[in-house]
Order: sequence, then C-alpha cells, then structure tokens
Amino acid sequence: MAEKPLLDVLGGKRLQRPPVWFMRQAGRYLSEYRALRARAGSFLDLCYAEEMAAEVTLQPIRRFGFDAAILFSDILVVPHALGQGLAFAEGEGPVLPPLATKEDVVSLRDELDPDKVGRVYATVARVRSQLPPEVTLIGFCGAPWTVATYMVSGGKDRLPAMLMARRDPGLFGHLIDKLVEQSVIYLSGQIAAGAEAVQIFDSWAGELAPDQFERWCVRPIKAIVTTLKQLHPAVPVIAFPRGAGSMLDRFRDLGVAGIGLDTADDPVFARSVLGPDVALQGNLDPIALLAGGAALDGAVDAVLERFSGPHIFNLGHGIRPDTPIAHVEQVLRRLRM
Ligand code: CP3
Repeated sequence: MAEKPLLDVLGGKRLQRPPVWFMRQAGRYLSEYRALRARAGSFLDLCYAEEMAAEVTLQPIRRFGFDAAILFSDILVVPHALGQGLAFAEGEGPVLPPLATKEDVVSLRDELDPDKVGRVYATVARVRSQLPPEVTLIGFCGAPWTVATYMVSGGKDRLPAMLMARRDPGLFGHLIDKLVEQSVIYLSGQIAAGAEAVQIFDSWAGELAPDQFERWCVRPIKAIVTTLKQLHPAVPVIAFPRGAGSMLDRFRDLGVAGIGLDTADDPVFARSVLGPDVALQGNLDPIALLAGGAALDGAVDAVLERFSGPHIFNLGHGIRPDTPIAHVEQVLRRLRM
C-alpha cells in the first residue's frame, strides 16, 4: 500500500515535514475554479455535477501537490437532501426557507434524497480513482449544530437556532437527532465510495454557552463519531469545533483522530488539554496568507514552532477568495525547505 503522510499523522505519528492541505483549497482564488464554476452555472449545480465537482476537487492537487484532497461539495447538501430548499445568492451566501415552526421541522424527509447524495458519492469515487497514491481523500459533513443554524434561520444568522434550542429543546433536539443519524449515513456513503478520512465542520461551535456547547456541539459529534467508528473502525475522523477556545478540552477522549484548531486557538494550550496522541490540524491565519511577504514567513514559522506532536499543517479557517496564488506557493516552499 502506498504511504500516505496525512493518514500516518492521523494515526498518531509526528512527521518532520507536516502534511499540508488548506480548508477551501478548491475555490474562487483559483482561475481554473472560476472558469469551471462559470460553465456549471451556479455553485449548487457545480456541487451536483459529478464530473465537474471531481475536476474542481483535483485542481488544487495538480497545482500545489497538497497531501489531501477534500471533496468539493457543501455542508448544506444534507438539508437540501432532506427536502429543504437551498440557493446560493451571489455574494450573499446560502439562502434556505427557514424552519420556523414545529410543522416545518417534522415535515423534513426521513431519508436523504438518494439522487442528490448519490451524485456526491459518485464525485468521491471519481476523485479517488484519479488521485495520486500518496494523497488522502477527505470526505466531510457539517456538524449538526452548525447545519441546524442555517436550517432554522435560513441563512447565517445564528440567533433563531440559539433561541429554539433554549425555548423548545425537545423540538430542537429532534432536529439535531435527525442530523446525527443522517450525517452518519452520509459519511458512511462517502467512505463506501472511497473517502479515507472525514472531517466534521462545526463552524459556529464558539457561539454556544458552556451548557449548550455540551448539549448541541459535543454530544452530537460524539454520537456521530461513536457510530461511525463501529461501522468503519479504520477511518479517522477530524473534528473542527471552530471557536471552542477554552472548551476544547471537551473533545478529549471523544474518539476523534484529529482536531482542527482555528486561527485564534493556541496550539500549546490545545496540546495540553487534548493529550499527546491526537493529531492537531491548523492553524495559519488566512489573513497572514493574504498579506504575504515576511509576515507570512513569520506566521508559518510560528505555526511550525508551536505545534508539538502529530501535526497537519492547515489554515485556521477557509482560504479567502482574494488570496494570491503566489502566497500559497510561498507557504509550500517554506514547508518543503
Ligand atoms: O474546503 C473545500 O475546498 C471543500 C469544499 C467546501 C465548501 N464549503 C465549498 C464552498 C467545504 C468543506 C465547505 C464547508 C462549509 N460550507 C462550511 C463549513 C466551513 C466554514 O467555512 O466554516 C460552511 C459554514 C458552509 C456554508 C457555506 N457555503 C457558506 C456560508 C458559503 C458562502 C460563503 C462563501 O465563501 O461564499 C458557502 C459557499 C461555498 N462553499 C463556496 C465554496 C467554494 C463559494 C461558492 C462560490 O463559488 O461562489
């Protein structure tokens, strides 16, 4: 079997040169992405067009030789496949019909639309068959909490979900339970199609008060990881609880192989509360990447110095669309020196 540096690190090894990939590595900062996206029509069309989605997934691998490819899709494919409307408004982000009432929540489908998720699985299979042997294919889903925030408000406002969670925890729990169950099925489908690791994105974890964090962030992710590990014991899971800060310790002993740190996290603190074995991923500031020059070199060196133990080099959040390609190349040259 070919050696895969990313899987080695997720298995608990520290490599002298950390494997590297970037969140949102396929995206608008690449001219070849913009060209294919224009051909596809909308972003959502691109997500479901398996041949083009596979091509977009592979673009950053060809250009930069990253150690991992991440499936090109979106976390909001799950609500879409559960029957909720979804559109991406140009320059505005996702727009969904909000789940305002109990009826809205209970009228969601009980199973993912097989045509929609089938296209995603087909993309995974296609990418896997074309990937260089040393590159790891990462599948993903959104964490129940973050996906629910978009479903309840219909967009990026987190308040409606936070209020539903406090006012009607039974109803909100019903939604979260459905997302736990369907996320396991969705990730299993990606794994069956060829994903070799999976990442769970909890982008809005940091908005939650401690009791709510336990209930709506930690518990659902733990449930997903526990079931997934029974089904696919060899497939490592990376959790990315963005903004968890001082509550990162709650992710210790959850069964995840890797934890993504965001830009504000201190890797020394994270290592001290998470133990020596888990792989830590991150956390170059996307603004340093945008700035370039000596500031970028300094930021890369600081990341390398502050992460001990198994480390996957990544950004602390997604790459910005206005990032110059030369700055990405500068980081990779420095890591490979
Ligand atoms: O990382 C990758 O390269 C893989 C693909 C990927 C996308 N979205 C593509 C995308 C992944 C893993 C995601 C995850 C995602 N989607 C998250 C969690 C991570 C995070 O960023 O916090 C969230 C919250 C979403 C929901 C979403 N999708 C938003 C809020 C937006 C609008 C913001 C933006 O950057 O435009 C999207 C759109 C989106 N998802 C784009 C891409 C490449 C831009 C779409 C375009 O081409 O116009």
